[in-house]
Amino acid sequence: MNYRKKTVKDVDVKGKKVLLRCDFNVPMAKDGSGVITDDKRIRAALPTIQYLLDQGAAVIACSHMGKPNATYESYVKKQTEKGKDPATLTEESWKKSLAQLSLKPVAARLSELLGKPVIMAADVVGPDATAKAAALKPGEIMLLENTRFEAGETKNDPELARKMAAMADLYVSDAFGAVHRAHASTAGVAAYLPAVSGFLIQKELEVIGGALSDPKRPLVAILGGSKVSSKIGVINNLLEIADTIIIGGGMAYTFSAAKGGKVGDSLLEADWEDYANDMVKKAAEKGVKLLLPVDTVCADAFAPDAHTQVVKEGEIPDGWQGLDIGPETVALYCQAVKGAGTVIWNGPMGVFEFPAFAKGTEAVAKALSETDAITIIGGGDSAAAVQQLGYADKMTHISTGGGASLEFMEGKELPGVACLLDK
Ligand code: 3PG
Repeated sequence: MNYRKKTVKDVDVKGKKVLLRCDFNVPMAKDGSGVITDDKRIRAALPTIQYLLDQGAAVIACSHMGKPNATYESYVKKQTEKGKDPATLTEESWKKSLAQLSLKPVAARLSELLGKPVIMAADVVGPDATAKAAALKPGEIMLLENTRFEAGETKNDPELARKMAAMADLYVSDAFGAVHRAHASTAGVAAYLPAVSGFLIQKELEVIGGALSDPKRPLVAILGGSKVSSKIGVINNLLEIADTIIIGGGMAYTFSAAKGGKVGDSLLEADWEDYANDMVKKAAEKGVKLLLPVDTVCADAFAPDAHTQVVKEGEIPDGWQGLDIGPETVALYCQAVKGAGTVIWNGPMGVFEFPAFAKGTEAVAKALSETDAITIIGGGDSAAAVQQLGYADKMTHISTGGGASLEFMEGKELPGVACLLDK
């Protein structure tokens, strides 16, 4: 995938109406109060927004939030599948579910951060949005309602894309977290407007793309998380690129079982054992060092206060489950990180939400914070771990994309990037 894309600096934005796709899919308090619990993604969009406003553009920002049911029928279908009593699924309860995914709280927070009003539209391409967009002046910013309130959004409906594009003269995408989605507002709209990237996407593409295409070597990839099945693409792609691949987290037990090890009650994807063996073989053929745990911290229950013991890899007793890498593994992995030129990390080493099983993840985060290597943290859990542990400012780059950074590392084409103009 060509990731050298035109940016807002390569086009004239003065006096233009700019449709700016952001990823404002921020976590909200579960009580429906509309309180944003982490505004990182809003802050991440500020440099591009500020630049556009300073240059005299009128900014029509848009984003999705959550996974709303755009129609009453789809709402009833989904909720019924989840076991809800259809009699309770009224139009009113559907509208309430939509209201909880309104972008109004985002507009309020964005306004605080920018220190200027953010005009909130009541719809996406309806009469309110189109009238407000038509009246928008240079230096002003408005926010469309949740793009997924339109049924055509996730279907990449050309008619919806055309209507969104009709409000603007230029499309700027800065929604890195959503570039793996071929939706109307992330990709479709680029068929109707010149399309360039904002600064956030530019940085994500430069740093992650650079590490994948021309890394400072040795390139060490640390892969964790619970399932081998969700990391296959990444392991496969990185086997072509990396010098060392380190495996931790729940997926390590599938590798262990595949070698004939005893994994007790640990997470296991038995169907993937052959695949795990193939990966080990492929690594050997390609001369890639594949490091697997040599010991594990196991517990007699999946609980923060479970009894624990450290055992050798492949020797987990019946009734026990591995929940973190052990101390010898920690030493081995930290040593591998020390000599790296670039480290890409995606997925925690254990159940770091429980302090008793956070040591592996903590040690890896610390090792990354101390190395001179370029350190890139894939989004999602590993980004949360680094933040929670206070090492965020010690990393070269923490991706704002979860699924997007994973698909990037898998070497897949990202529709939200492919649609932008090449440099
Ligand atoms: C994310 O949170 O990873 C992005 O906003 C994409 O959201 P989605 O998985 O609902 O498309």
